[in-house]
Amino acid sequence: MSNVLLASDSSDLQSRIHEAADGMCIALPSRPLPAEPAQLLSKTHHESLPDVLVLDATEDPEGALALAARFDQELPGTGVVLIGDPAKLSVAAMRVGVRDVIAPEAGIQEMRATLARVAQAVEQRRAHSVVTLPGMPALNVAGRVLTVLSPKGGAGKTTVATNLAVGLAEAMPGAVVLVDLDVQFGDVATALALEPEYTLEDVVQGSALRDPIALKTHLTHHQSGLLVVCAPDSPVAADAITSEQVGALISMLAQQFRFVVVDTAAGLEARTLAALDHTTDPVLLTTFDVAGSRGLRKEIATLRELGMLTNARQVILNFADPKAGLSIGDVEATIRSKVDLTLPHSKAVTASLNTGIPLLQQSPRDAVSKQLRKLLSSYVAAPARRANGRHRTSS
Ligand SMILES: Nc1ncnc2c1ncn2[C@@H]1O[C@H](COP(=O)(O)OP(=O)(O)OP(=O)(O)O)[C@@H](O)[C@H]1O
Ligand SMILES: [Mg+2]
Repeated sequence: MSNVLLASDSSDLQSRIHEAADGMCIALPSRPLPAEPAQLLSKTHHESLPDVLVLDATEDPEGALALAARFDQELPGTGVVLIGDPAKLSVAAMRVGVRDVIAPEAGIQEMRATLARVAQAVEQRRAHSVVTLPGMPALNVAGRVLTVLSPKGGAGKTTVATNLAVGLAEAMPGAVVLVDLDVQFGDVATALALEPEYTLEDVVQGSALRDPIALKTHLTHHQSGLLVVCAPDSPVAADAITSEQVGALISMLAQQFRFVVVDTAAGLEARTLAALDHTTDPVLLTTFDVAGSRGLRKEIATLRELGMLTNARQVILNFADPKAGLSIGDVEATIRSKVDLTLPHSKAVTASLNTGIPLLQQSPRDAVSKQLRKLLSSYVAAPARRANGRHRTSS
């Protein structure tokens, strides 16, 4: 079990968390709750940061949320869990990067499972991060890079990438960037009704790759708080964009943003592989048919051989149709991997692309929106799936 720090005045809660953490728990009083992470941590006299911080938010939910937000900004290598009413706290908690909310009456098994999930998620995050101890000024935490891939065109990459990015940006305005790496025919700008002043071509060929401030001035703003690097206007411009430039761009963006979402062209062209080289969370998408599953099997096998398939990957089947004569089990057997999510066919998807309003905003109750929210919850608030790190083959 990992190191758990608990701030609570309840002796009952202290004893249950202690048991759930197999004794690896230091308990502190929660009153008064300090405003600064460093103040809280200084009370533990511990050299290392806790993997999981459990804050009792039953007495002072505002104070607990404010402190959780500071931990999220300053020490993202510690996962924060709140104790309180999930119905009241979950949305606010998600906005400040809290990993989970546990009800005060939760049983030990539930607490144990939550602590283990959060510890796994932070372990993955730390694999891509350099986190300093409190009191040290520099904080260099690489953001997560989510790259949306499909073996064939028209599988729904742009739909998934744009909505994923918008959903993340709504929770964390200004902290998410979307890159349209479908350099020839990218349509992220159309999907989000953007009229970019600068495109990928300007970004990789000007001073932006050397200067983070210049880079930020070259991004296009979406009303959700998302920043976007749109594809060039002309397919001809794509020739001049090299995979080295793409790699440098993604790496630089990951230093500046909490999440970098990458939409790609179908297949595994060199620029996509360059993005994968910096990807922490691949999102693999295919159509729900035999041809789509076979294509995905080859793509998964190739990524595995290249050591680019982390366990953090999500596998999504689009256009899922129960009457298609194919089951999810059939697809899983073909691709030799688990399917994490299915997206049904929905007219609202095309309507959203046509209007340039993201599906999550235009049709939040649509069945596809609901599934996309599930995908979102695997990156925010709820813990991410464990990854062993970049360039390791999944089991
Ligand atoms: N679940 C869905 N239900 C209905 N239509 C969908 C769904 N997913 C995607 N579409 C439609 O399929 C088309 C392709 O979707 P999208 O552009 O997102 O795919 P893509 O993988 O980015 O395609 P490309 O490879 O051409 O870039 C669009 O017209 C979109 O509206
Ligand atoms: Mg596309």
